[in-house]
Amino acid sequence: MQNIARLRDFVQAFTRLIDEAADDQARVMDSGEVLLADLIRHDDWLPEAYSQPGLTEYRQYLLHCDPLERFSIVSFVWGPGQSTPIHDHGVWGIIGVLRGLERCEEFAPDPQTGKLLALGTHELHPGSIDLVSPRIGDIHRVSNGLNDAPSISIHVYGTNIGTHSRHIYDPNTSSQHHFVSGYSNEEIINLWNYSDTDS
Ligand SMILES: [Fe+2]
Repeated sequence: MQNIARLRDFVQAFTRLIDEAADDQARVMDSGEVLLADLIRHDDWLPEAYSQPGLTEYRQYLLHCDPLERFSIVSFVWGPGQSTPIHDHGVWGIIGVLRGLERCEEFAPDPQTGKLLALGTHELHPGSIDLVSPRIGDIHRVSNGLNDAPSISIHVYGTNIGTHSRHIYDPNTSSQHHFVSGYSNEEIINLWNYSDTDS
């Protein structure tokens, strides 16, 4: 059963949070982390169409964008062997693992040389939350930690992330170039069909 009401409740709660605290990033991240942890506590709500990996590359499905583009919610889906490039975000982001296992490698530029330094790797299991922002650390590479199944995480960002210009980094040369990720989907989930008995 797809309990899409969980996502609807999350959208409403996050909208209230942004209405109250949009200028207080620390509060948004603290309270947003609690809301996202509650959403990913259950894996019974993400529609199949938004949980499919690509054949050769990971997918990023927009689940909801705030009408004023103050935040967006995206499901990221990695198939076995799939990985993001090393990238930054330029805005705050809250990441919660819904399914599988994700491996996150963190990087930062050396303040002296500008060369990209590997800071470490951590694994994220279902229910785990990760945070990114230019203030706390914003450059990473995320890959599927499973060889035989997809991994899925739900991300919330402080802008319409698919349209936001940011950077991809070359691990060998530390050079960077701009990219805009876009989204893998053209259609959005209908959160508002209250007549659906599953909702
Ligand atoms: Fe990322």
